[in-house]
Amino acid sequence: MELNELKSRFFNVFKTETSKEVQLFFAPGRINLIGEHIDYNGGFVFPAAITFGTYAAVTPREDSKVVLYSENFAKEGVIECEVTDLARKTDEPWSVYVKGVIAVFMEAGYEMKQGFNAYIAGNIPSGAGLSSSASLEVLIGLILSDLNGFEIDGITNAKLGQKAENDYVGVNCGIMDQFAIAMGKKDQAIKLNTNDLSYAYADCDLQDYRILIMNTNKQRELADSKYNERRAECEAALALLQGTSNLNALCELTVAEFDRVSEVLVKENLYKRAKHAITENERVKLAIQALANRDLVAFGDLLDQSHLSLRDDYEVTGAELDTIVMLTRQQEGVLGARMTGAGFGGCAIALVHQDQLEAVKAAVAKGYVEKVGYEADFYVAAIGDGAKKLEVV
Ligand code: GLA
Repeated sequence: MELNELKSRFFNVFKTETSKEVQLFFAPGRINLIGEHIDYNGGFVFPAAITFGTYAAVTPREDSKVVLYSENFAKEGVIECEVTDLARKTDEPWSVYVKGVIAVFMEAGYEMKQGFNAYIAGNIPSGAGLSSSASLEVLIGLILSDLNGFEIDGITNAKLGQKAENDYVGVNCGIMDQFAIAMGKKDQAIKLNTNDLSYAYADCDLQDYRILIMNTNKQRELADSKYNERRAECEAALALLQGTSNLNALCELTVAEFDRVSEVLVKENLYKRAKHAITENERVKLAIQALANRDLVAFGDLLDQSHLSLRDDYEVTGAELDTIVMLTRQQEGVLGARMTGAGFGGCAIALVHQDQLEAVKAAVAKGYVEKVGYEADFYVAAIGDGAKKLEVV
């Protein structure tokens, strides 16, 4: 994003502000390398922030109003929020992310003294499962904190963003997305223990390989309700397993322990959901070790296994993601591929040799359109920094 260009677009919308100094903020999107649907089961996840993200050009206001324009939702025009009126408006669907964050900050006791104008521009493909919504939440949290002088760290901002998503947007998501977005670091993935939020950065040195992001362009309709349904199934499985073991979260069980007690999960769907969570948690640990050992073949193999478990046991992939992953696996120079994020459409990632990137893209693009009837999009991921205030240029 050209930052001077962003500023001039801000002034085109907020014409009265031309004499003021504009402040710039950024929050990235994320990919998850492995550890899917276990951030709400106390598991390990391994996400990374990407260089695609959401930018804001901001000026403080004299009053406490928040006035926003997003070029990604240009049809909705300028939106105004009063901190005294944060009701959701159906004709302004994206404003719920902003209002939700403001409301959650206020509930947590932060006093909103400083209003602001913001021009928002994002280059994360929307609805692709790369967390454009969590990116906006963390961005708004960062702006509120900076302008009001709240001294909050990235983890607190991430938790407040997650709460906004849970309580105001209505998606019962875990902490992974907001955490990766707030805490990401260039060229590093984050090993996050979602049980206690302890974390460590891991060098993401993929040698001659690159992460290819493949967007199925499948609309993620009903994704939110199916997401909440999966989470409820995990809670039901946990409640039954608690009758056999002293447990707070599914991922506290090893695969061997699970095998000993799993017969209490008589309903097949509950058995399969728990099996995915527990096996996925073990795959994450192995994958982190494989990456540290520079064993990309083993790392890629774990990505493949993760996808199969999400397809067969967790049942969140769907025909489009399965098609794109299977087509990719057939290409030379690919060590592994899997869906990333919530699933039900959205994006997959693949570990592809840099010399084969163009050939893989071309073959998968062709096979995908023939099978699915519409095109996929491809991006090579670069792992970037988490949310931050940008230097004014
Ligand atoms: C979405 C949620 C995350 C996580 C993933 C699945 O991205 O926001 O909390 O549960 O799905 O791993």
